Amino acid sequence: MLTEKIRTDFPVFTRKINGNRLVYLDNSATSQCPKKVIDELSDYYLYHRANVHRGVHTLSEESTDMYEAARKVTARFLNVKNTEVAFVKNATEGANLIAFSFLPANLKKGDTILVSKYEHHSNILPWVESAKLLGLNVKQIPFTKGYAIDYERLSKMDFTFLAVNQVSNFLGSVNDISKIADVCHKKGAYLFVDGAQGIPHLPSNVTNLGCDFYTFSGHKIYAPFGTGALYIKDSLVSKTPPFMFGGGMIKSVTLESGDYLNEIEKFDAGTPNIGGAIALASALKYFESIGKKAIFSNEEKVLHYLYSQLSSQKDIQVYGPTKAEKRVGLVSFNLKGVHSHDLASILDSEGVAVRSGQHCTMPAHKGLGLVASVRASIGLYNFQDDIDALMEGINIARKVLK
Ligand SMILES: Cc1ncc(COP(=O)(O)O)c(C=O)c1O
Repeated sequence: MLTEKIRTDFPVFTRKINGNRLVYLDNSATSQCPKKVIDELSDYYLYHRANVHRGVHTLSEESTDMYEAARKVTARFLNVKNTEVAFVKNATEGANLIAFSFLPANLKKGDTILVSKYEHHSNILPWVESAKLLGLNVKQIPFTKGYAIDYERLSKMDFTFLAVNQVSNFLGSVNDISKIADVCHKKGAYLFVDGAQGIPHLPSNVTNLGCDFYTFSGHKIYAPFGTGALYIKDSLVSKTPPFMFGGGMIKSVTLESGDYLNEIEKFDAGTPNIGGAIALASALKYFESIGKKAIFSNEEKVLHYLYSQLSSQKDIQVYGPTKAEKRVGLVSFNLKGVHSHDLASILDSEGVAVRSGQHCTMPAHKGLGLVASVRASIGLYNFQDDIDALMEGINIARKVLK
């Protein structure tokens, strides 16, 4: 069972923020890094640093082994093959890679892409921009009056590619990826999943999810910035051309053209973020060492408490699914009559870090008629005491701002 002791793994919790203990509830924006992960990153840079795949000397071989071992750890975490995992700098790059390499090679003018109105901008804009270049149509995934996908209407639609989040970073709602995959594959359509908010809160067994592409950012799961992965289903790796060109991804080069690797390494153009990949694997191993079950069951309790505390207040409007069981990781809300930035500033003065604004989901905010919202999002080091501190902070804001 997880206890507050886990916070000792994260030096940031020794800090005082405006004289208070740090209550970090901005995990959907980014999580904190355990010291162990930073130590492994530092060990790599201090004792093993060398370029990969190019040298026969000891350091280069060590570096290559560590980099490829990191790919294996990432693949194991997702329950997919090593040959299906490309390293990317974040989920945004994962989406752009597919939008500007797979789509041009496999979709044709007039084909339709579906995206949902509850996506992060990073899972809207790559498709919209690629569609402009390729002459594709972009349409909306149909939703029920609630926040669930309308499968009946979806199965009647004509489309070739669908991009959706596993978990919404604004509503916390969870999409049933296996069910969406069934609908897509019956039509011969491809499914891209943005796992940025799913990876830290759900068992992201990508083989079981059945999607064709899945991407996530390392920094949302306790790894450093600039790290992440993109899963490409085995049978689609050869159908996805390289996204960038340069050293490290070629078979042969002339001044007129290049012959490129067919395998997943074709996405490693230039010197990759070797230390980052190693640190990503270190964070995933740290996560596994605590145990996915223990993390998810603690988060479920904390989220339930967060949701019930916020939704029981008459002057707080909570957005998204009305039952805590249908969401993971976060609750977005507003204190009536108070701008989200004002509330977030007062909370900060009490040591409570939350996000305010539109969380890169402008269409979703607009759709609900909102200018902005406050988002409290949890991680593996959050417990009931953090939610109590948030609620105390909101009480103080009421006195100051209302
Ligand atoms: C659902 C979702 N998708 C994509 C992203 C983009 O992640 P990154 O900025 O790490 O590329 C985020 C970041 O908040 C997100 O929440």
